[in-house]
Amino acid sequence: MADLDATRLREVSADAYREVMATVPTAISVLAARTPEGRPVGLLIQAVVSLSADPPRILVSVSESSRTLPHLLRCGFFSVNVLSHDGLELSSRFASRAEDKFAGVGWGSSGPGHDVPILTDGVSASIVCAIEEVLPRHDHSIIIGQVLEAQGSEREPLLYHARGFRQLASRSSG
Ligand SMILES: Cc1cc2nc3c(=O)[nH]c(=O)nc-3n(C[C@H](O)[C@H](O)[C@H](O)COP(=O)(O)O)c2cc1C
Repeated sequence: MADLDATRLREVSADAYREVMATVPTAISVLAARTPEGRPVGLLIQAVVSLSADPPRILVSVSESSRTLPHLLRCGFFSVNVLSHDGLELSSRFASRAEDKFAGVGWGSSGPGHDVPILTDGVSASIVCAIEEVLPRHDHSIIIGQVLEAQGSEREPLLYHARGFRQLASRSSG
């Protein structure tokens, strides 16, 4: 029997759409920027897509209700910090609306000219961007970032699937 019945696809409500998207596993990241006073701010996001490699561009989607969003737009620069398997504490911290999410967290600053917060523990990759374009759509802003600096690693990722945080079970040879 097939895994999915093609005749059962239906138009979806917002809730039904959420249910379907909850079945799609994603990496999760902390998007970080600075306020004009230099305070680090950030939020947890799963809406991160590589838009193009040449030129290197990334696309993130941030809710209009995010308190970080106005700071991010004013800052003009941001970092995407992809969480690794041991970054679970960071995920709940940055999904909250706490005042100082960086208190007690390992972080440093990116290079001169952008100077955005970079998480140093519990991450598998860091990408520093300049905002190239902002596209307000529905209740989110799509932000296209020009990738300025990036660093990856072999560290295993933290994944989000079926409304829970998970780790990779095994590596397939294919
Ligand atoms: C697994 C997960 C993924 C999330 N992905 C996004 C996202 O892609 N974009 C977004 O704007 N908010 C996303 N959120 C919600 C924000 O992290 C959350 O609303 C946060 O409190 C916003 O903080 P702020 O208001 O301080 O910016 C996600 C939350 C969770 C738990």
